[in-house]
Amino acid sequence: MPDPLLEARALTRRFGGGRRLFGRAREGFVAVDGVTLALARGETLGIVGESGSGKSTLSRMLVGLAIPSEGTVGLDGAALDLRRGRDRRRLQRRVQMVFQDPASAMNPRKTVGASVAAPMVGLTDWNAERRRARVGELLEVVGLRADHASRHPHEFSGGQLQRIGIARALAAEPDIVVLDEPVSALDVSVQAQVLALLRRLREERGLAMIFVSHDLAVVEQLCDRVAVMRRGRVVEEGDCRTVFSAPSDGYTKELVAAARRFTT
Ligand SMILES: Nc1ncnc2c1ncn2[C@@H]1O[C@H](COP(=O)(O)OP(=O)(O)OP(=O)(O)O)[C@@H](O)[C@H]1O
Ligand SMILES: [Mg+2]
Repeated sequence: MPDPLLEARALTRRFGGGRRLFGRAREGFVAVDGVTLALARGETLGIVGESGSGKSTLSRMLVGLAIPSEGTVGLDGAALDLRRGRDRRRLQRRVQMVFQDPASAMNPRKTVGASVAAPMVGLTDWNAERRRARVGELLEVVGLRADHASRHPHEFSGGQLQRIGIARALAAEPDIVVLDEPVSALDVSVQAQVLALLRRLREERGLAMIFVSHDLAVVEQLCDRVAVMRRGRVVEEGDCRTVFSAPSDGYTKELVAAARRFTT
């Protein structure tokens, strides 16, 4: 790839194990197993795969919310050490995440303005006035009103909350957003609105995106490339059209066939 912005370099994440029990090393469970992927500037990469295949765990490592057991995250060609706070902050200034469940991703006791402003506090040196102005701008960018900032999450619908989640992800002006099933919890018509918003942001701001989804039809519409995960590994990766029209891996073939049955 010509100019990789963000890379997974042989990323592995193990849960449990690690300790020695009766003199034998315990293996633990490998949720992500040596995944290598690259995202180019302005590109949208889809990640699909069955439940438990490691999509969320991989996403969390790519935004610095989980520490790899092995491998590194690369940013602008340089390897980051996510055990170090400095490298994590460096990553988080550039890459932000949008979560599946917009309601639980937001603190119910804080105003949405405070939630949207939160990334700016740690990641920028903007003063309170500048942060407030930016929150108002962002709420308008995602189709809400600046004065919504003083309201609390329970005053919004799921679709509105997901827009607020997107505003928060954009707060510190990242150039990459990782979206983990961002529309799965929403009604179909609201899904379409949020997807339209993502397309617009991509065009206007040149955002690069990693879009995790169960929904192959949505990925096919939105993404340039797709990676298919199974049991912690990427089993197939390529141009979206090619992968969906002529899958080469057996598991991808099953997924595509199942999706076609579902939609026709
Ligand atoms: N904190 C954790 N501790 C132990 N196991 C975990 C932890 N987080 C994830 N796992 C396990 O790792 C595997 C991958 O989980 P992950 O959430 O990444 O999958 P996923 O592809 O996002 O699934 P889904 O489509 O259901 O969201 C699962 O078997 C899960 O049980
Ligand atoms: Mg998940």
